[in-house]
Amino acid sequence: MNLSTQYLGFTLANPIVCGASPLVDNADTVKRLVDAGVSAFVLHSLFEEDIEKEVAAHDQIAAYGESFAEALSFFPEIDPSHTGPRQYLSLVQRVKRAVPVPVIASLNGSSVGGWTGYAKEIEAAGADALELNLYFLPTDTTENAQEIEERCLDIVAAVRQSIEIPLAVKLSPFFSAFAHFAKRLEQAGANGLVLFNRFYQPDIDVETLQVVPNLHLSTSEELRLRLRWLAVLSGQLGISLAATGGAHNALDVIKAVMAGADAVQMVSALLRHGPDHVRTVLGELASWMDEHDYESIAQMRGSMNLERSPNAAAFERTNYVKVIHSWGL
Ligand SMILES: Cc1cc2nc3c(=O)[nH]c(=O)nc-3n(C[C@H](O)[C@H](O)[C@H](O)COP(=O)(O)O)c2cc1C
Repeated sequence: MNLSTQYLGFTLANPIVCGASPLVDNADTVKRLVDAGVSAFVLHSLFEEDIEKEVAAHDQIAAYGESFAEALSFFPEIDPSHTGPRQYLSLVQRVKRAVPVPVIASLNGSSVGGWTGYAKEIEAAGADALELNLYFLPTDTTENAQEIEERCLDIVAAVRQSIEIPLAVKLSPFFSAFAHFAKRLEQAGANGLVLFNRFYQPDIDVETLQVVPNLHLSTSEELRLRLRWLAVLSGQLGISLAATGGAHNALDVIKAVMAGADAVQMVSALLRHGPDHVRTVLGELASWMDEHDYESIAQMRGSMNLERSPNAAAFERTNYVKVIHSWGL
């Protein structure tokens, strides 16, 4: 049984990748994930906001320090090894030393800025690849769809220019012409797409009149949105595709691969069941493939995508019409 897969130019032992999360912060967890068979790690993100904070703090100190030497005492001492970006680079080095599989760092931002230079530092710290998370909600009524897309493409092109390692782009599904935009991301230099970001929906506390952020782990239900877009894109793009969001068990992995995923990232399932869950999923994956006469992941990948599925229309509008008409009272 050949579970190996190609993702971002790497040959992974199997499609299960530990997705961006704090799971990598604990050395024991990392070791257990490796032992259980995880085929690559995505580190949690270094956020644009954290980078800007560091840059702003340095700028402030430099500006005030030049005017009044005593002003330096107003600012907390910045130990470069303990601020976000510095810590992040040591995380890259630490995880890279600890694991025998590819380590994918993650940058999370929404504007083109000097922070893209950090991609270079992340590469120098030893990351095998970079996942660029374009995480934002387009709430500005004056910015149109084209401007938003151009901004994303500019960020991707800027990061692509600054590094040699493979670049994956993680993004939301909320683009009006997603397939077209995905193609443009490929043209801008993305080596892979990671579908999709989950937005953590804030709630309203009606007593305290506070907007309350909350974080719910996903369920397998959320995979369906990913399946549709993996199926739509996998025959049309020449780059890697990863699923993130709603992959919890072997059947979820199988569906994502059949839809066209090269890799399947897991976070919620690992937080809920622990690192050993990877071993269970891999065991069930191999058994299922054996029972259904699949010899390899390669044989299965994309077999149910828009191009190859026997009822491809089910991914498109026809499905909507049928489903609506099938509801019986
Ligand atoms: C506690 C937690 C922390 C996360 N941190 C990050 C992060 O730093 N960067 C990122 O791109 N995604 C982050 N994510 C999102 C996950 O990588 C993943 O895309 C999402 O949880 C959906 O996958 P799942 O259904 O397997 O959980 C985080 C998710 C959780 C639950």
